[in-house]
Amino acid sequence: MTFPVHRSRRLRRTEALRGFVRETHLTTGGLAYPMFVCPGSNVRTEVSSMPGIFQQSVDKAVEECREVTGLGIPAVILFGLPERKDETGSEACSAQGAVQRTIEAIRKAKIDLLVITDVCLCEFTSHGHCGMIQNGAVLNDPTLVHLANAALSHARAGADIVAPSDMMDGRVAAIRAKLDEHGFPDVAILSYAAKYCSAFYGPFREAAQSAPQFGDRRSYQMDPANAREALREVALDLEEGADIIMVKPAMPYLDIIQGVRAQFDVPVAAYNVSGEYSMVKAAARNGWIDEQRVVLEILTGIQRAGASIILTYHAKDLARWLKHC
Ligand code: PBG
Repeated sequence: MTFPVHRSRRLRRTEALRGFVRETHLTTGGLAYPMFVCPGSNVRTEVSSMPGIFQQSVDKAVEECREVTGLGIPAVILFGLPERKDETGSEACSAQGAVQRTIEAIRKAKIDLLVITDVCLCEFTSHGHCGMIQNGAVLNDPTLVHLANAALSHARAGADIVAPSDMMDGRVAAIRAKLDEHGFPDVAILSYAAKYCSAFYGPFREAAQSAPQFGDRRSYQMDPANAREALREVALDLEEGADIIMVKPAMPYLDIIQGVRAQFDVPVAAYNVSGEYSMVKAAARNGWIDEQRVVLEILTGIQRAGASIILTYHAKDLARWLKHC
């Protein structure tokens, strides 16, 4: 027998052959584009650490939503900035909040978009934590009713999917019960099930003005060292009624995405977060990397690991590149 019998390079010879045997195909079908909405009108302020990403008022956000659908992106996820912050983050539940008004405006403009809303309190609380505070500690159970009320206000405004990102125990069950009780059994829950306490959220906290004013989020978000615990978190959220589960961040947690995909037969989402985006942008601006190739490689990796849904600030760029591929 002459050596080698198997020549892997045979199928790499031309683009036609490479395309023919390709295992993962990135499409716009599973993309969600994150957006930051704020009070006021005609506001469009670029987030300094996230080039190309803006805090914008409802009118401007609706314009961008039109662009997003035009690019073939099926979904947006909305984050809100309040007029006023307080101890309990009361504006998170206000029908007049920026998120609630944006959903209504999207519906009124008949833009064909899936609207996902981030359900959390940190953007709305004066202390910047994702729950109620007592003696410097973040309380779990008293927070649940506030989260459920925020989710309900999003459902009333017309959200398709609510996405709790707070990491309180029992929030999925509390939100499901509240939505069902008020006649929204069809509003789905995408839970940030395995959300790690990550330094990669830095730029987001500038965008959403949600940095904790004391301490950190280690008592509720997951320890980056834990993988098996992520499977327990996912199992619990599914028992409580989550429809889609998410791993966050994405790049440093590809093993978690793969493990969750292998163990649970539900749609798996991954959040390619702000810090992951900003690093790519910064390196590309310096001419150190080829932005398009790097982004395609990152998003392909996230999909290959097992995420069929990807939340990413690169969504519009990716959609444009895929059109011209
Ligand atoms: C709110 C929330 C955060 C992100 C999404 N929802 C920040 C945090 O937990 O501090 C991060 C998203 C990103 O970095 O792009 N709890």
